[in-house]
Amino acid sequence: MQAFADQARCDGNTIAFIPTMGYLHEGHLSLIREGARHGDTVVVSIFVNPAQFGPGEDLDTYPKAFERDCELAENAGAGVIFHPFREDLYKDGYETYVTLEKLPFHLCGLSRPVFFRGVATVVTKLFNIVKPHIAVFGEKDYQQLLVIRRMVRDLDIDVRIVGAPIVRETDGLAMSSRNSYLSADERRRARCLFEALKQAETMLHGGVRNAAALIDAAGHTISRHHDAVIDYIEIFDPETIETVATIDRPARMAVAVKIGKTRLIDNILLTP
Ligand code: PAJ
Repeated sequence: MQAFADQARCDGNTIAFIPTMGYLHEGHLSLIREGARHGDTVVVSIFVNPAQFGPGEDLDTYPKAFERDCELAENAGAGVIFHPFREDLYKDGYETYVTLEKLPFHLCGLSRPVFFRGVATVVTKLFNIVKPHIAVFGEKDYQQLLVIRRMVRDLDIDVRIVGAPIVRETDGLAMSSRNSYLSADERRRARCLFEALKQAETMLHGGVRNAAALIDAAGHTISRHHDAVIDYIEIFDPETIETVATIDRPARMAVAVKIGKTRLIDNILLTP
């Protein structure tokens, strides 16, 4: 992969990179299409990164469909699929990790303490292997996008980060590889994340600028659904992730909810 990247760069090609964990859906494919707009050579990695899974999480059951992924990625514009083995990236005696000091101590980082260290580490490694000029990440994982942007800035990594909007199912549920874990009944209830976010937006446009009131209403909408357990509902500054009390400038609202055994996340931009 490194030799290929060197050659592509020598030939004057721009390398666009889309890191994924596979089991691709329209959300991933929109990132690949976005990459194709920026680069001559589009590289998609498929790697379920053990370093970002905590004990008891779904590392061993994470869904896979490699052949199908290759076909979908290729049709969306990918020229190269990079699919390393675990032992390629984490050799015996592996001990180097990339950590951020502040951003992980919010939102998803609180219930998934090793997650952002695992993401920052694997993305750094993948950048060193794929040597991209630009890389595309989805706003679906909003905190992850902020972590990557901050890491790239702090470590002077020579990659331009492009954010891409959330792709949703027709009922509003944000697409996710983990949606495949949901039973038919859970799938119906999973709509409550987007419903709660849209309700907050409607309330805001109706004049409610108090973040606590919006969070409270969202909590009620989600709790109405039997078996939906809220991890967090927060409204925060889109750059610093610090919580916002009154929405007098654009803010992000994010939710994490467990439906049955499946943890789902979603977010929306709130503009007063
Ligand atoms: P994964 O969950 O496979 O997601 C890969 C990329 O697709 C991420 O940038 C994510 O934000 C984006 N994505 C997922 N669902 C989306 C949707 N509905 N709309 C738009 N974009 C969406 O995120 C990871 O993998 C990993 O943490 C990774 C960055 C690959 C590091 O291991």
